[in-house]
Amino acid sequence: MGWNSWNYFAGRVTDKDIRDSADQIVASGMRDAGYLYVNIDDTWEGERDANGVLHSNEKFPDMKALADYVHSKGLKIGIYSSPGPKTCAGFEGSLGHEEQDAQLYASWGIDYLKYDLCSFHTVMQAKAPDDKAAQMRLMIAAYDKMGKALKTTGRPIVYSFCQYGWDSVWEWAPSVGGNLWRTTGDVSANWDRIYDLLSQQAGLEGYAGPGHWNDPDMLEVGNGRLSLAENRSHFSMWAMLAAPLLAGNDLPHMTPEIKAILTNREVIAIDQDRLGKQGSRVYSDGEVEVWMRPLAGGALAVAVFNVGSDRLSTHPFHLSLTKLGLDGPLTGKNLWTGDKVTLTNHQPIELASHDILLVRVASPR
Ligand code: GLA
Repeated sequence: MGWNSWNYFAGRVTDKDIRDSADQIVASGMRDAGYLYVNIDDTWEGERDANGVLHSNEKFPDMKALADYVHSKGLKIGIYSSPGPKTCAGFEGSLGHEEQDAQLYASWGIDYLKYDLCSFHTVMQAKAPDDKAAQMRLMIAAYDKMGKALKTTGRPIVYSFCQYGWDSVWEWAPSVGGNLWRTTGDVSANWDRIYDLLSQQAGLEGYAGPGHWNDPDMLEVGNGRLSLAENRSHFSMWAMLAAPLLAGNDLPHMTPEIKAILTNREVIAIDQDRLGKQGSRVYSDGEVEVWMRPLAGGALAVAVFNVGSDRLSTHPFHLSLTKLGLDGPLTGKNLWTGDKVTLTNHQPIELASHDILLVRVASPR
């Protein structure tokens, strides 16, 4: 869990933005709710000197001092690079300097690396034209190389793969040191895209587990024109997916409603549940999806989600516990209202468009 600069600041991010965001993570209570990593995304990179040592650019005058500042707040700090010659925003990548860069990050006190394929794709195509299998091997080798370089530093550094979910990354990422891997292209702060990413997660639940996670991309909670229901559903579903929770909003101007969503500890507890099992879509009926996630101690999270554009009052949806393999009645807690709820078979449930009912059931059996 943490925060990343890209979704709100993109290429404008500066040292001051990172410091201010770290301050806000503490002041807002987000740190105490579990948000630990403050991650600088693309556009911090400067030029290499004659010895190949990479320097940060003028927006980031002193990376070591910045890392010390973030650490002084009880937080950790992340950085970004690419296995290619250039990052996605056209800044210096790590190709040919992997060990040197890993050592540099460790000397600054970096705790997390997001490694973004970007221009390495062109390298793959040039080295193995028309041979997709050979291209894939080159990509895996590039991620492996940086993984080994990070290990050699002796500093624990979380290793985040960003190659948009190509070549079934979930099958090979853990074997080359990946702690999390993007499963899709980029998120954006609009409902259709968020739902599109969510839909691509069904079926990947078997690949996630403690220390190695599917990453459906960072949170857009608080960004763009998402309604409160959409923000709630986005956050709830990322928790159902055991996804990395990396907020990406404008922290100094966060509204109380958005803060309440991002710091809902009971929803965070679903995400962080120690069993580490990703939830799955058990069934859908019309425009309503029902997802379930097993939790430690025999507990369960059940999400009933209206993905359609209409309210359901005219044709209420009826929950089928049978399809979930459960017997009712089940008592639980509605994690957005705090109310006690009882789920029964064939129970009518009314939800506004894009809204969600997220229930924690203590132990159904
Ligand atoms: C890619 C990644 C994004 C972000 C940008 C930065 O698009 O998928 O998450 O890191 O690059 O340039």
